[in-house]
Amino acid sequence: MDNPLDKQSARLFFAVWPEGRTRGALAQVADKLHQRCGGRKTRAATIHLTLAFLGDVPLARLDELLGAVEGVEAASFRLCIDRLGYWQHNRIAWAAPGAPPAELAMLADELRRRVQAIGLPCDGKKFVPHITLLRKAQCGGESFFPLAVDWRVADFVLVRSLLSEKGAEYLVVRRWKLGAQSCASSSPASAS
Ligand code: 2AM
Repeated sequence: MDNPLDKQSARLFFAVWPEGRTRGALAQVADKLHQRCGGRKTRAATIHLTLAFLGDVPLARLDELLGAVEGVEAASFRLCIDRLGYWQHNRIAWAAPGAPPAELAMLADELRRRVQAIGLPCDGKKFVPHITLLRKAQCGGESFFPLAVDWRVADFVLVRSLLSEKGAEYLVVRRWKLGAQSCASSSPASAS
């Protein structure tokens, strides 16, 4: 089990983290999906969408990391979570925005760039926005149902993951506000 007091490094990732009604709505989606696919449900309080996964970072470098992110200028945006899916290879059932706004990938890219610029590790895999709702699930195509959860994303967080026997526990290290939305923003990434 991880003990935050005696570790020299922390397992970190950046994410957007829903609250209030959005969190409740996504938890209901997880409940419904769980009835169809089984597996282990993500607890409502830990439902999130990862922007960039760093893995183990020496605690001695935490201040430098926080400083590197300080000047990020990104606009707030809305996500319409209207898609469900299942990955056979890792048995994860997820929800996602079918048409993510360009701002989401821009924020993820910017964070990854800043992390790499100070020489810290960052998962270099292509950004595939998803919200893990079930692990060890068994879904068939008929498991899915229509959904439309409106999520107004106004901030992002750096999170520390503590692995314990009960699963992962997440601690928010810091929260950054996103800027006000302009009329021109929040266009779908796929729009030409
Ligand atoms: P997942 O839900 O698809 O597993 C904390 O582990 C968060 O970081 C999860 O949202 C997880 O995504 C994500 N993540 C991304 N890359 C990861 C990696 N290489 N190892 C563990 N978690 C990763």
